[in-house]
Amino acid sequence: MSHITENLTFAMIKPEAVKKNVIGSIIALIEEKNFTVCGLSMVRLTLERAQAFYKVHEDRPFYQALCDYMCTGKIVAMVLKKENAVQDFRTLIGATNPKEALAGTIRNQFGTSIEENAIHGSDSDTNAQKEIHFFFNQ
Ligand code: CMP
Repeated sequence: MSHITENLTFAMIKPEAVKKNVIGSIIALIEEKNFTVCGLSMVRLTLERAQAFYKVHEDRPFYQALCDYMCTGKIVAMVLKKENAVQDFRTLIGATNPKEALAGTIRNQFGTSIEENAIHGSDSDTNAQKEIHFFFNQ
């Protein structure tokens, strides 16, 4: 079973990117890098759901602002499949702060600030599994 989770990651297009009408552009970049979209859901998070999703950051100073921001509009949650999905996807999205993200990365092209950074990607296979379960009940 372990090879299955190792080949999946979770991605979430954030509210400001959805509002900028760049869902299609972002998914095109993801597919160009040979990820397969195998789950997709567009939803608006409640504050409780956002707080639960980002619970790992609850002691960080940015936690409340981040959770509030994540409820300002719809997000697009996705399950992505590819060999080495977690690491390759983190390379594709770039550094958390779009100003530090390399040219060609999703955050460099579509991010606005460290909070409004266009997209989230899981940081480990364990978290990918948890985050996929959070949205898709797998
Ligand atoms: P994400 O990959 O969704 O994981 C946690 C998010 O917290 C991160 O992207 C950023 O959007 C947000 N965030 C806001 N401020 C900070 C900060 N100072 N350091 C790290 N992440 C931050």
